[in-house]
Amino acid sequence: MTGRLIAFEGADGTGKSTQARLLADRLGAVLTREPGGTPLGEILRSIVLDPVGVAPVDRAEALIIAAARAQHVAEVLRPALEAGRDVVTDRYIASSVAYQGYGRGLGADEVAAVSAFATDGLAADLVVVIEVDEATTAERLGGDLDRIEQAGVDFRSRVIAGYRAMADAEPDRWVVVDGNGTVDEVADRVAAAVAERLPAP
Ligand code: TYD
Repeated sequence: MTGRLIAFEGADGTGKSTQARLLADRLGAVLTREPGGTPLGEILRSIVLDPVGVAPVDRAEALIIAAARAQHVAEVLRPALEAGRDVVTDRYIASSVAYQGYGRGLGADEVAAVSAFATDGLAADLVVVIEVDEATTAERLGGDLDRIEQAGVDFRSRVIAGYRAMADAEPDRWVVVDGNGTVDEVADRVAAAVAERLPAP
């Protein structure tokens, strides 16, 4: 029996990490995150997100995140899914396509190909993208921005446009959830969307 892989996506400040945790609780799923989720992945995360460390060039950034993803798939995602567990991951392949592909301008197809190699083809069964308006983002974005979050407003607009393009291109595998409102309101929307798209096996 194989579990289901659900990826949470969205720009920074959407509240997606909170919602990923709540859905994982609701489903009794394994909760994990990227970049990270493994000991090596967490080291790579700190290298790539540290605002004061050595800054990788854009292609190196894409490859470091992909290396963390390869480790994550091999050590966490595949074993859990093969054991029949559902897995909720806070960010996955679409983050790379949105941030490195659209945001950094490395190209959506090129970045998707790097992730296909890293994951050996493991795709999410459902991608939940949380969208919020600008005022909510400003409220939720904390003061301590990571190196990638510091890239600025235009970068952020490209990331959001990238998510929209992906959601439009694959409406069966993607669901866009309105992230405005209280945590509970959004959690109910997420749960309803997931129940509709991914009925219990
Ligand atoms: P985020 O998931 O928002 O974590 P936190 O809860 O600590 O804010 O931050 C992860 C950062 O990594 C975010 O700036 C987006 C970036 N990122 C990419 O650029 N590409 C990727 O493929 C992934 C997984 C993350």
